[in-house]
Amino acid sequence: MVSKENSFCYLDNAATSWPKPPAVVAAIQHFYGELGVAAERSGSSRAWTVERAIQKCRRQVKELLSSGTNDSVIFGFNGTDVLNLAIHGVVQAGDHVVTTVAEHNSTLRPLEYLREHLGISVSLAECDSQGLIDPSEIQSLMRPDTSLVCLSHVSNVTGVVQPVEEIGKICQDREVLYLVDAAQSLGHLPVDVKQIGCDFLTSSGHKGLLGPLGTGVLYIAEEANSSVRPLRQGGTGTQSQTSIQPVEMPYRLESGNLNTGGIMGLSAGLTHVLETGLTCIQRHEATLSEKLTQAMGDLKKIRLIGTEAKQRTGTVSFQLEGADPNQIASVLDSAFGFQVRAGLHCAPKMHESLGTLVDGGTVRISPGLFNTEQDIDDLISALREIATNMS
Ligand SMILES: Cc1ncc(COP(=O)(O)O)c(C=O)c1O
Repeated sequence: MVSKENSFCYLDNAATSWPKPPAVVAAIQHFYGELGVAAERSGSSRAWTVERAIQKCRRQVKELLSSGTNDSVIFGFNGTDVLNLAIHGVVQAGDHVVTTVAEHNSTLRPLEYLREHLGISVSLAECDSQGLIDPSEIQSLMRPDTSLVCLSHVSNVTGVVQPVEEIGKICQDREVLYLVDAAQSLGHLPVDVKQIGCDFLTSSGHKGLLGPLGTGVLYIAEEANSSVRPLRQGGTGTQSQTSIQPVEMPYRLESGNLNTGGIMGLSAGLTHVLETGLTCIQRHEATLSEKLTQAMGDLKKIRLIGTEAKQRTGTVSFQLEGADPNQIASVLDSAFGFQVRAGLHCAPKMHESLGTLVDGGTVRISPGLFNTEQDIDDLISALREIATNMS
């Protein structure tokens, strides 16, 4: 048995990336150990240092997205938080929204809430057997009262890359606002908001961007700046004499103290991503993923889900015939030291479409920037052993 009982190999980067570059940990330590002040809430030199660090992080996000100078970057607390900011901020009573079965609950649940409480209606585009969405279905679901189309750039279940640019053109033609959830693409592949043609793009800061938990980013195109109502109101450190929320970005949507230490960590993560280069990261993750899927394809009883899609990230989902995905993940952890994730991955409707809901979902392996080919070789040996023992 190739037991790795005392070792640990992290392959759950789609949940949150780990390890973080040492500079990320150092930046957080620097903030809490040496700065510690709130930005924009005092005129001290430390407060200005912190404010400059936050501005730097906004510029880095813009650089990563090839965004325009007058577009906005808003900081939130995770991918779910910024999706809520955008969805609740844009959708109004009676609106119609088009989304897809491939979405995470952080899109599906706010929409369901608005359906119940605000009387909006929601249409869901189906996916094919690889998890891919057909832009023509999005188009056919659109109605005169459609105010928003939202979909994830990359599925967190299968890693399939959706045709976001084609869908962007459809939204532009119909003058419908377009929100892209880039939680699984940002930091994994080049993302250009102008090419996509989106009005809003959201992402966690703690996944591909290598920042800490407690960070998320919302991009808003200049023309869409005024279309988002603030979900929260409160202190911004600016225009304190007025009783109404400032209309200027980012204050319109950022109330209360930001996760400043987290943003400084995120900035260090972004530096690492920008210096490494998206093409290089994408190539590395593709190499690991191809090695994994090729070897798994030869293993009896293993069913790969959605790995035939032409464009994918490194994320791989599978089932082992006759075994509960949670059981596989648990054995991988306890007997071999691999940390992966099993279940529905907060995307229940996609499992319904892929036919994997009844079996309890899939086992998901999500290699990241710091995994090696050796990690994949070891994982394949472990899976081979598990598959053999279960036959
Ligand atoms: C596609 C997608 N959207 C949104 C989220 C929510 O992100 P967070 O966990 O940062 O709230 C996730 C998290 O896994 C995701 O995969």
